[in-house]
Amino acid sequence: MPNDTLTITDNRTGKTYEVPIADDTIRAIDLRQIKVAADDFGLMTYDPGFLNTASCKSRITFIDGDKGILEYRGYPIAQLAEQSSFLEVCLLLRKGELPKAAELAQWTAEVTANAGVQASIEKLTDGFQSDAHPMGMFIASAAALATLYPESKKISDLEVRNNAFRQLVAKVPTIAALGYRHAKGLPFVQPDPELSYAGNFLNMMFATPGVKYKPNPALERAMDILFTLHADHEQNCSTSTMRVVGSAQTDPYTSLAAAAAALYGPLHGGANEAVLTMLAKIGTKDNIPEFITRVKAGEGKLMGFGHRVYKNYDPRAGIIKRAADEVFAVTGKNPALDIAIELERIALEDEYFVKRKLYPNVDFYSGIIYEAMGFPTAMFTVLFAIGRTIGWMSQWEELVLDADQKIARPRQIFLGPRRLDYVPMDQRA
Ligand code: CMC
Repeated sequence: MPNDTLTITDNRTGKTYEVPIADDTIRAIDLRQIKVAADDFGLMTYDPGFLNTASCKSRITFIDGDKGILEYRGYPIAQLAEQSSFLEVCLLLRKGELPKAAELAQWTAEVTANAGVQASIEKLTDGFQSDAHPMGMFIASAAALATLYPESKKISDLEVRNNAFRQLVAKVPTIAALGYRHAKGLPFVQPDPELSYAGNFLNMMFATPGVKYKPNPALERAMDILFTLHADHEQNCSTSTMRVVGSAQTDPYTSLAAAAAALYGPLHGGANEAVLTMLAKIGTKDNIPEFITRVKAGEGKLMGFGHRVYKNYDPRAGIIKRAADEVFAVTGKNPALDIAIELERIALEDEYFVKRKLYPNVDFYSGIIYEAMGFPTAMFTVLFAIGRTIGWMSQWEELVLDADQKIARPRQIFLGPRRLDYVPMDQRA
């Protein structure tokens, strides 16, 4: 008997089956042959939340959650955050290799040239109420882009895909800034082609129209690092959404709008916003012990703590904590930082958090930096979405080119009633 197989005995029938193991995985479909009777559907696996189900083979991002390791295409996240730039990381994530200088220069020129958005996207944003959540505007604008690039449906055409990468990476900062300026009642600031990706985003957010904006180099660098840290995180909720929607051969703009909708949730990309709300509610360090007691009693969560994959310190949280010092040297310290540091200290010494391996995740400190840089809380998830756009797109393209992939269509365990007879209205109890 070969070693790389699993032998299963079905005690209902006494029959034994041998299923192949490849990459430490068995194929769920191989269980279908395990039946009690010939007309039986066959055995399935039940896995709500996909705790132990691989939905794809990927070569993009590696995470070892127990050891706190995150690598993009094999390169450790700390090296990329320190030595690379976000636009370079975009090429790395998509293509699998660090680009040569000419390739990076061309990509940078393409992104810069396409940063402006069509008048219809500006009009769409204008139609929202001033108190509309920026994620609502972001999701709507991303979906609207699909109507402006109808050829994007041709997902097997490389040139069409190239354009989708270029347009989306170029335009997401612009639609994010449009939403912010609309909510503030401020006129839109056109992209400045002389600025870097991060510098231009800060320009579109915070410049006075007509006045040349010079981003502070420390803030520009911090913004770029934050985009890099958020660029990909393998099969998380929003990326899986991108793949599920993309598996129906939906165009990448609409698929990305769906992914952004998943990111909006407070358990996912909405957590950075929730962290700031939580820190504001705690108010002072003295209130931390009482807050922790309430969390342990099940009255809410310690937002920015815990992760489905990391059972150790999220490597991104440490990098952000260090970047925070450089930002605060410019902006002055955010008072929320002291509360966060004390909260982390107390939680990491507490049996409840230690036992469950709950550590700070990427969202615990990112919001504190964003706030110090002048971003309102409601923009935090949008900032996450700008960085994650390249990850969503790279994962989507991997799906499109993967011959193993089919339209996503999970099974269910049906527990409801069957074969009822219709009861007319006047006879219902
Ligand atoms: N505060 C208090 N208890 C927690 C927390 C938390 N933040 N996170 C998990 N737990 C407890 C949970 O109640 C459970 O306890 P018990 O075993 O007694 O029932 C145990 O830890 C295991 O948690 P889980 O809910 O089974 O873990 P999960 O993998 O399903 O959820 C999570 C992961 C990130 C949704 C969760 O940790 C959480 O809700 N954290 C707060 C929200 C947050 O910070 N989200 C950002 C995630 S990182 C950015 C991103 O990738 O989107």
